[in-house]
Amino acid sequence: MPKLNENYLKLKDSYLFAEIAHRTAIYTKEHPDKPLIRLGIGDVTRPLGSSILKALHEGVEEMADTATFKGYGPEQGYTETRDAVAAYYKSKGVDVDSDDIFISDGAKSDTGNVTELFAHNNVILIPDPVYPVYVDSNIMCGNQVTYIKGDAENEFLPMPDERQHADIIYICSPNNPTGACYNKEQLKVWVDYALKNEAVILFDAAYEAFISDPELPGSIYAVEGARRCAIEFCSLSKTAGFTGTRCGYTVVPKELVFTASDGQSMSLHAMWNRRQSTKYNGTSYIVQHAAAQVFSSEGIRECRENLEYYKANARLMADTLSELGIRFFGGVHSPYIWFECPDGMDSWECFDYLLEEIQVVGTPGAGFGENGKNYFRLTSFGTYENTQEAMKRFKRLLGK
Ligand code: MLT
Repeated sequence: MPKLNENYLKLKDSYLFAEIAHRTAIYTKEHPDKPLIRLGIGDVTRPLGSSILKALHEGVEEMADTATFKGYGPEQGYTETRDAVAAYYKSKGVDVDSDDIFISDGAKSDTGNVTELFAHNNVILIPDPVYPVYVDSNIMCGNQVTYIKGDAENEFLPMPDERQHADIIYICSPNNPTGACYNKEQLKVWVDYALKNEAVILFDAAYEAFISDPELPGSIYAVEGARRCAIEFCSLSKTAGFTGTRCGYTVVPKELVFTASDGQSMSLHAMWNRRQSTKYNGTSYIVQHAAAQVFSSEGIRECRENLEYYKANARLMADTLSELGIRFFGGVHSPYIWFECPDGMDSWECFDYLLEEIQVVGTPGAGFGENGKNYFRLTSFGTYENTQEAMKRFKRLLGK
């Protein structure tokens, strides 16, 4: 009999969004006459931009011709795509070597897989609330997690406690689920803390494209010293509507070199490269060709148009909650609205209440950590019509 990875016993039965899908499916089965408005998982609804779609088609056509056909690609990603990402960073005033960029199938896999680079006795700081993949993937490999509290008092932007040592620090900014976004000075405090502790920051920038204020950093590398302490993950899921197409990128600077127990130098870049070339055959050429187009001026314009559409949804939700006197966070530099559950409900009660009463599906804050237990997340990725209808129902239900 195989000995199993019993760390899985320590996980909740199902992944947050699988649980929501499960509960929603039961409701739909029992109430087929009551159509739902889904504002739960952050899944996009706008189609791909037309030049991006054209690039996808071009990629397919190249596969049809012996002269342009592609087999296995480089595990790190095609040069065209890596260069396009590096140029995008440059356009934001951030220097990232094309060589330090690894193209992937999205930030979810990479933020989960990165645990493989580290031993199991590290002090790992993870904000609470936050994207549940960080905690779950650490539990899966038997790691202990130290939570750092985000709450209304610190505007969901926890800062380091200088008395606490750390080896690995997760930061998600703009934050999923709260929408809170660190400014440059705050990120500098984290970078200095990481350098002092010889820690690594795992920085998830999946929502950087939603940042509306050019003064706010969309990359940790906008901060001096970050190349010596941070890995950055990003995704085209939300930026370019690639939740179904799948593409992301991870930056592992070559400066990230640490000392092994026997005194040898170990480079995280070399380790990640070794991991990827062993376990990953790369994102498909077709998708990478389209991903490169995302970062062209035309692609960026098309993506911006979609982002503006979602931001209008976020504004509509924010206005409605303000009108209803419900305290909320986010919705400005982020597609998510994070609100306090009304009438002292906890977040799963609020989930059931909204589902039963107005057939609106959202995400209970408890799924993002203990500190989310009295909050609820709505996504702005729905259609405008559905968002409008959902807000009408909110007013009907919660208006005094
Ligand atoms: C979310 O709803 O939090 C995200 O869509 C999940 C993800 O990006 O994997």
